[in-house]
Amino acid sequence: MRKVLVTGATGAIGEACVRAFADAGYYVYIHYRSQEAKAQSMLESIQNGEIVYCDVRDGESVKSAFGELDLDVLVNNAGITKDNLFFWMKDEEWTDVIDTNLNGMYRVTKAVVEKMIVKKNCAIVNVSSVSGIAGNPGQTNYSTTKGGIIAFTKALALELGRYKIRVNCVAPGLIESEMTESLPLKELKKGIPLRRIGKPEDVSEVVLFLADKASYITAETINISGGMVR
Ligand SMILES: NC(=O)c1ccc[n+]([C@@H]2O[C@H](COP(=O)([O-])OP(=O)(O)OC[C@H]3O[C@@H](n4cnc5c(N)ncnc54)[C@H](OP(=O)(O)O)[C@@H]3O)[C@@H](O)[C@H]2O)c1
Repeated sequence: MRKVLVTGATGAIGEACVRAFADAGYYVYIHYRSQEAKAQSMLESIQNGEIVYCDVRDGESVKSAFGELDLDVLVNNAGITKDNLFFWMKDEEWTDVIDTNLNGMYRVTKAVVEKMIVKKNCAIVNVSSVSGIAGNPGQTNYSTTKGGIIAFTKALALELGRYKIRVNCVAPGLIESEMTESLPLKELKKGIPLRRIGKPEDVSEVVLFLADKASYITAETINISGGMVR
């Protein structure tokens, strides 16, 4: 049975990824940080898996949680926003977002990649954002991490291709979730060619495709924004 780790599995996109991989027959490691009960109830609703705690800002926590996992697929999905105009941005708003989104992805990938190299035929999918492609006012910290994730994906894909490990990225636009619930979505919809906000499943189906089906795609970023960012 193929095994996948989904980080940030208790969030909207993470949960959709858990369900997509479970439906595809995977054993799913459901990673959580503060929402153990949600992770546990998700586990009860899928066939095979387990819940795993760690804070991706803490290197030791990441190593002890993930260091022994024998994965076929890693989905680096955990992430936060702390928006502010750059002029007003506090140091901790900058460093928290960098440490969670960018350093967190580094720590998780570092913890699992050696076993993937030995195993071969694995896949990594990183969750970026259109904010990392086009930029977004109020998100210099977040855009920096999401652009960095795209660059990281390309460089790592070039290193790992020889081991038949594919590394790809998705760049969602506006997706229904806690991250977007306070935004004026009615207004924002008008700027989306498909005229709707994305659903978490719009993202998870592409994540599953990249991990499980797209055998000749690597170092790629797929934009999932209803055409909002081209
Ligand atoms: N929603 C969108 O419109 C959108 C658009 C583009 C990209 N994305 C990206 O998609 C990913 C998932 O977003 P989402 O909308 O599903 O967000 P969400 O609902 O807020 O979920 C975020 C997940 O990340 C986890 N997380 C945050 N900080 C963590 C830490 N220090 N250690 C471990 N886990 C941590 C959260 O766990 P806790 O709740 O316990 O902190 C939660 O499970 C993120 O990378 C986000 O940047 C989202």
